[in-house]
Amino acid sequence: MQKENYVPKMAKILGITRENSDVKTFKLKLSNGKPLNFKPGQFVQVSVFGVGEAAISMCSSPYQKSYFELTVRNVGNVTGALFNLKKGDLVGIRGPYGNGFPVEKIKGKDIVMVAGGVGFPPIKSVIEYILKNRKDYGSVSVLYGARDPKSLLFMDKAKKWKNINFYTTIDKPSGKWKGDVGVVTTLFDKYSVKGNIGISCGPPIMMKFAVQSMEKIGIKDRNIYISLERRMQCGTGKCGHCNIGNKYVCEDGPVFSLEELDEVTEMIWQ
Ligand SMILES: Cc1cc2nc3c(=O)[nH]c(=O)nc-3n(C[C@H](O)[C@H](O)[C@H](O)COP(=O)(O)OP(=O)(O)OC[C@H]3O[C@@H](n4cnc5c(N)ncnc54)[C@H](O)[C@@H]3O)c2cc1C
Ligand code: FES
Repeated sequence: MQKENYVPKMAKILGITRENSDVKTFKLKLSNGKPLNFKPGQFVQVSVFGVGEAAISMCSSPYQKSYFELTVRNVGNVTGALFNLKKGDLVGIRGPYGNGFPVEKIKGKDIVMVAGGVGFPPIKSVIEYILKNRKDYGSVSVLYGARDPKSLLFMDKAKKWKNINFYTTIDKPSGKWKGDVGVVTTLFDKYSVKGNIGISCGPPIMMKFAVQSMEKIGIKDRNIYISLERRMQCGTGKCGHCNIGNKYVCEDGPVFSLEELDEVTEMIWQ
């Protein structure tokens, strides 16, 4: 690993979109003018100076070279400090790190993606990648669950996604919501979802049931990919903070096939 990979690059906030009460999307550009080249599912360590760093996945299209976007939920010190920043402010960026989703390897396959919460932003990046190369993939189904209608992210953008079966659901009935209600896995039966590749990102308990539903429709464990979240520090396989069994989530992951996680399956749902 070259030394420059540990040194944060400066990035300017070009714009901020408030998605809902606790989620914002930051549009950023590296101050050196270079694009941040990344694969869907990779992440950066974002630093707010004087506060610290947090791992955040890119949610924009990897083909968008003039800027990149991070969608952040305000849960603690760094994300809270990010929420106080304004357009024009600077942050530090290390990375991109991690392996990302195997978007090349799964070409020609029928893909089922299951997302929840701020697990949806990296899935959006996968969707943007697939849309750019749509003819290279078979059917694409996206199942997305959120607590309530306000928590559903990127709904305006989703209206423009062509040739993707996009299903949303919320946990409990709410106000004028006329769409589906129930946990995200109920969508499998409701829409007879089929596929031979599974991808999931979201809260561990959601992924646990998403994986079971994927197995039920016949997807093999070696073809189910999940993105894990662990507390990170270095992001580069040096400090050991993110380990799960004999793997480092930052470097060997964050995306793993279920087959790779065979020996640590019970640890990953906690
Ligand atoms: C690969 C990867 C990609 C990610 N992508 C995104 C993304 O796109 N968007 C997004 O919003 N988040 C994402 N996250 C999650 C994000 O990195 C965490 O939420 C991050 O910890 C927030 O940092 P913070 O300083 O704001 O929170 P912290 O102050 O670190 O607190 C975060 C939460 O952890 C709890 N906590 C604090 N200290 C500890 C401790 N020692 N042990 C256990 N719990 C503790 C806090 O109570 C709080 O609930 C990603 C994480 C990973 C690993
Ligand atoms: S965060 Fe340091 S080894 Fe993964």
